[in-house]
This record gives sequence, C-alpha cells and structure tokens, in this order.
Amino acid sequence: MDPKTIEWGKLDFSYKYVPYRFHRHWKDGSWDPGQLVTDNKLLIDEGAVCLHYGQEIFEGMKAQRSQDGRIWLFRPYENAKRFNASARRLLMPEIPEKEFVGAIRQTLLANEEYIPPYGTGAAMYIRPFMLGVGENLGVRPAKEYLFVVFVTPVGPYFKQGFKPISLKVETYYDRAAAHGIGQAKAGGNYSASLLPLKNARDEGFDEVVYLDSIQHKYFEETGASNVFFILPDNVIATPKSDSILNSIVRRSLMEVARQDFGYRVEERPVSVDEIGTFLEAGACGTAAVITPIGCLGYLNKRYTFYGDGKEAGPVTTRLYRHLTALQVGDIEDTHSWLEEVH
Ligand code: PLP
Ligand code: COI
Repeated sequence: MDPKTIEWGKLDFSYKYVPYRFHRHWKDGSWDPGQLVTDNKLLIDEGAVCLHYGQEIFEGMKAQRSQDGRIWLFRPYENAKRFNASARRLLMPEIPEKEFVGAIRQTLLANEEYIPPYGTGAAMYIRPFMLGVGENLGVRPAKEYLFVVFVTPVGPYFKQGFKPISLKVETYYDRAAAHGIGQAKAGGNYSASLLPLKNARDEGFDEVVYLDSIQHKYFEETGASNVFFILPDNVIATPKSDSILNSIVRRSLMEVARQDFGYRVEERPVSVDEIGTFLEAGACGTAAVITPIGCLGYLNKRYTFYGDGKEAGPVTTRLYRHLTALQVGDIEDTHSWLEEVH
C-alpha cells in the first residue's frame, strides 16, 4: 500500500498492512526493551495459552491529525490503565503506562506517512494487544507473554458513517456473565458475540445490544461499543454494569454533556421497559465514535427514535460534532484530553 495513492475518504474499517509494528516479550518476570519489526506474522507455540484458553487482551485507540498536520491521541493513559486492569483480570503482566504509550508513539512515528490527513474522516487505528505464549497444556497462566502494537488507517466502523443503525435487543444470548470478563477488553467477549451478531444481521439488524445476564432486563452494551439514551427534560441515561467495558469515549461524552452542555447524566441500570421513553439513542466508542441508534428491535416489535429513526436527533448530533471537533483540535481542549505525538 503506497501512502501517496490511498484514497483516504474511501477507507473502511479493515486491516491494511503498514511497514512497522512494535513487539515486546515478557519472560522470567520482566519485559525485554521491545523493538519495531517489519514482519506482520507472529510465530508462537501451538500450545500457547492464548490459542486454547483465550489468555488475550487488547485495546483500541485512534491517532488523528489536526489542521496543522500535528498528530494527536485521545486520552491514551486511560487506555493504558484499562489495559493493565484487563491484564490483572486475566493474570497477565502489567506494562507501565508510560511504556504502553511510548510503544504506541514509536509505532505511529515509524508509520507516519500512513496517518490519514486532516479532514478526510479517516484515522490511524491503533491495536495494542497481549498474548499468553509459550507451550502450556494445562489450564494455568502462560509463562511467557508477547505485547504487540500494530496500526492501520481506517474509515468508519459502520459503513454508512454518521447515520442511524438498527440494533437487535438480544434476549437469549449473553455477551458476558455477571462476574465474568465483560469488564476486561479480552478476546473471549468478542468470540461470544459472533453468533448473536450473525443472527441479528440475518434478521436485517446492524448490531446487537445485550441485556444483563441475570434478569435479561437491563441494557448492557453492543458487541463493540457502549450505549446512551436521551430522555425528556435534558436527561441522558447510560447503563451502569460490572460486565461492560468502561468506555473512555462514553465517559468523555458524559462529562461534556454534564459540564459543557448542562445535561443531567444518569449512570444507572436502564431497563428495557423504558424503551418507549427514549427520544434518541446512540452507540459510542473509539471505532463507533458516536453512531445514532435509529431503531431497537425488542421481542418482535421495532421501536424507532427521533421520528422514524432515519435521521440522527439533535442531541446525538451535537455530541458527535463536539467530540469529533475536539479530537482533531478544531475546538479548545478544555479537559486536557489530547496528547501530541512527536
Ligand atoms: N464496549 C466494547 C465492547 C468495545 O469493544 C468498545 C471499544 O473499545 C467500547 C465499549 C468503547 O470503549 P472506548 O470508548 O474506550 O473505545
Ligand atoms: C474499538 O472501538 O476500538 C474497539 O475495540 C471495538 C472493536 C471491536 C472494533
């Protein structure tokens, strides 16, 4: 892929090869210094714990350029903290936050020409991950670990961009158990979501929104994002649950909504019985950015928001514009959320 010929505005959310990635090994209680490598293939033992017992965690981040061409990350130390929280849950070694962000910085700068220009709608997606490697047949943590950061230029996660999507409210399958690994960004949560997602797509929906695994009554999140709901009287509700990912984008949006826009933000269990009261709904996350939810299909009924669910509502639109402008430096970063990469 020659960066000079990339049609940035046409990129989708898929893996594209770029020249460098960062590798670092952990063995006998410590990390090696790590290095940039060019080979995108990994050579690991067939008995590796990540392959059999899912000892794998990851993060998802984006780097974007401001109008003057500078490169910015959005709250990368929050990703570092969450990566280490996931590592603790899966009994994997932690990485000092500065070193986690440093590895990302090195990988981005090595592939700088592939970071999409300002104003194209594209971004450099960053995928740090850690694998339990080394041979290990019994169910126990690996003795060796591999930390990798790869980057790849991407367009929108949902191909239509900022247009409402339809979600199936999943009443049978669960993404994560109540006290399982739902709060960790671990591959196993995503493998659990593949079949329900296929079923939902076969039924004409774009995505799935899961309910709590005990009562199937309270909203959790989608397979790849958190959710929020706009209620009457300037209230925004977003699910509180111990089995969802603690989304950095959602936390940021709720802070903006509360502090900058004057909304009352309620982080609480949100029941499916409240569906009829939602004025607007949205999915949010690094890949999803903010994607309006136009329709929820629940028990053979379809509930649409903001009229017939074909257009984004005003609150979702205002949040989207604010977040996307903030992330590329078009408006002042009053919360100090941006980190320059140089
Ligand atoms: N929930 C899930 C299941 C996700 O995969 C993601 C993506 O990272 C999110 C929520 C959103 O998290 P963040 O806003 O930190 O990207
Ligand atoms: C992200 O938003 O970065 C994610 O990790 C979601 C991913 C499943 C595409």
